[in-house]
Amino acid sequence: DPINVDGARETVRRIIRDGNRAADVIARLRALFSRRAFTLERVDLTEAALEVIALSLNDLQRNRVVLESELADDVPVVAGDRVQLQQVMLNLLRNAVDAMIDVDDRPRRLVIRTEREGTDGVRLTVRDAGVGLDRQTMNKLFDAFFTTKSDGMGIGLSISRSIIERHHGRLWAEPNDGPGTTFAFSIPSLGVTGADAMGLQSRPLDTGD
Ligand SMILES: Nc1ncnc2c1ncn2[C@@H]1O[C@H](COP(=O)(O)OP(=O)(O)OP(=O)(O)O)[C@@H](O)[C@H]1O
Ligand SMILES: [Mg+2]
Repeated sequence: DPINVDGARETVRRIIRDGNRAADVIARLRALFSRRAFTLERVDLTEAALEVIALSLNDLQRNRVVLESELADDVPVVAGDRVQLQQVMLNLLRNAVDAMIDVDDRPRRLVIRTEREGTDGVRLTVRDAGVGLDRQTMNKLFDAFFTTKSDGMGIGLSISRSIIERHHGRLWAEPNDGPGTTFAFSIPSLGVTGADAMGLQSRPLDTGD
């Protein structure tokens, strides 16, 4: 049989592409997990969210997203890795923006909220007005490498969930009453408010080891 040059070329192209993809995934995982050790410090989620918002403003503006922040200034402080928690927020914001990219018949409204949960927990919520989730997607969202995006890796939510679980918290998604989806995570806190813990923000916690 004649050699199928086009087929071979396509196969090589795919191998190179998948190789790049795998390298990308590995680079991102490494950046997230092993670049720095898990640091345990007192984190005020409202302050952490303000930083993430500041970093995202250009991106939000460029995508015509209307941001509403409802950040409580008295959320209890949590013990955790500030950068990793901010990575989770970034992932949720990024996904929310992606979900609204084709929305043109309503405002691309994104709400980010922090609030006290129960007596000593804290919850962060990211609500979008995007495409929403069908039941099938709903079940796979948090699976590693599940993506519906042509340029997605499908690792944002699975990494985010493992980060939150390492903080003894949980991360979940629910459909909105109207269009879009709400993602939220909650973390148990140290039982002191941010104001009370002022000046202790960057001091590492004594973990006993
Ligand atoms: N806010 C959202 N609205 C609708 N669907 C969402 C939303 N967030 C996530 N999804 C769905 O869940 C899938 C997995 O999300 P995840 O963040 O894990 O990966 P990704 O965004 O596709 O790629 P990346 O690795 O770059 O984050 C998305 O591809 C999308 O189908
Ligand atoms: Mg993502």
